[in-house]
Amino acid sequence: MTSIRVIPASRPLEGTIRCPRDKSLSHRAAMIGALCNGTTRIEGFSFCQDCLSTLRCLERFGVHFEKNEHAEKLVIKSPGLHHLSEPDDILDAGNSGTSIRMLSGIACGVEGISVFTGDESIRKRPMKRIIIPLRKSGAFIAGRGGDRFPPLIVQGKSVLFPLQYALEVPSAQVKSALLFAALSAKSTSRIEEPIASRDHTERMLRYFGVSLSRREDTIYVEPPAELSPRELVLPGDPSSAAFLLCAALLVPGSEVTVTDICLNSTRTGFLRVLRSMGAQITEHPTVTTQEGGEESGSIRAVASRLHSTSFGGEIIPSLVDEIPILAVTATQAEGRTVITGAEELRLKESDRLHAVADGLNKMGAAVEETPDGLIIDGPTPLRGARLQSHGDHRIAMSFLVASLVAKGETEIEGIDCIGISYPSFFKDMETLGMRRLKE
Ligand code: S3P
Repeated sequence: MTSIRVIPASRPLEGTIRCPRDKSLSHRAAMIGALCNGTTRIEGFSFCQDCLSTLRCLERFGVHFEKNEHAEKLVIKSPGLHHLSEPDDILDAGNSGTSIRMLSGIACGVEGISVFTGDESIRKRPMKRIIIPLRKSGAFIAGRGGDRFPPLIVQGKSVLFPLQYALEVPSAQVKSALLFAALSAKSTSRIEEPIASRDHTERMLRYFGVSLSRREDTIYVEPPAELSPRELVLPGDPSSAAFLLCAALLVPGSEVTVTDICLNSTRTGFLRVLRSMGAQITEHPTVTTQEGGEESGSIRAVASRLHSTSFGGEIIPSLVDEIPILAVTATQAEGRTVITGAEELRLKESDRLHAVADGLNKMGAAVEETPDGLIIDGPTPLRGARLQSHGDHRIAMSFLVASLVAKGETEIEGIDCIGISYPSFFKDMETLGMRRLKE
């Protein structure tokens, strides 16, 4: 296991970074490209480990990829929806919940057996949330432990029943799995989403010509005869940018700009929370709607005096991946920050509520774990400590940011997982002025 020793920032973080392309969009672009009949070209594809897991699985369905990692380009050649082949081996989703859940939706529409597994973390993540609704499509789907966990087995059918389902968890992964299965249905599907989650799949399917509409909480999907390829340009990942922006807010005198970031409001709840804490953060939209239907622009953060805030409820899905770094930030804010309604965090790559509370308390913070959130009293001076990433990329990066404002050296064990979402994280942080001792 690789570890890193970080020393506190001795000078401000400064500069402009173009951070990795959006992981959520890249998964969807690869999957929707695989459903198109012909050649789809994607610019700005993220070749992080999670997206490579998606490509590896799709190859087993007979999809061909030409990867140009350096230029962030991906060319997809596929026979398209209705012509994908039965995988000739087990599908390994690695650490990626997005891959296993969303690809299960696609597998329901593919004749034959698809078997999914993944790493130790993925094999502990809940799957009933996709199994119960996907079964209504007429495909057979089952999971280990009474449908709770992977491995999963799917026996797909080329024509499915339309879905009529109200989501019980506000999860974009579950919603997307159902949207993908709905493409192989014989008539219109209706998916009800009482609490909105990221809407990238809906935007991208519409961009590829699928007749998909939304009335109040309900999404209506008409199954297309086939999907035709289009060119797609993907913006940067706000969930990755969040680490750089929060580091800039915390290290005195810093000023950091992250360019070409996806500004879809179903992803940028963390910016609204940071502003409510007094953070000097400005968004500069540059592209209102680009290929793929997403807005993008740059975000600038200036070191700020922060105060506490409280958030929970409907905003949670729009910042679900940013809660660990928001918790780090709250340790340096004046007053009590209360986060509620975030019980989903216990079911991510690690139990993120526990992992972040435990690590920050080792650093001298005052963080109390509640069943569905965190209570953080600040500001508390942080001190260097020996921390575990729990194999979770977002926990590792959150602790690294915390260590920049701690007194003394911090050692973080298990940092290889950062490549799951942000392979160039250390390079980008060093460009901004971070120094490390050694791995
Ligand atoms: C994702 C949705 C979120 C998020 C995950 C990526 C997506 O999960 O935590 O990192 O790309 O749809 P849920 O939809 O399960 O909340």
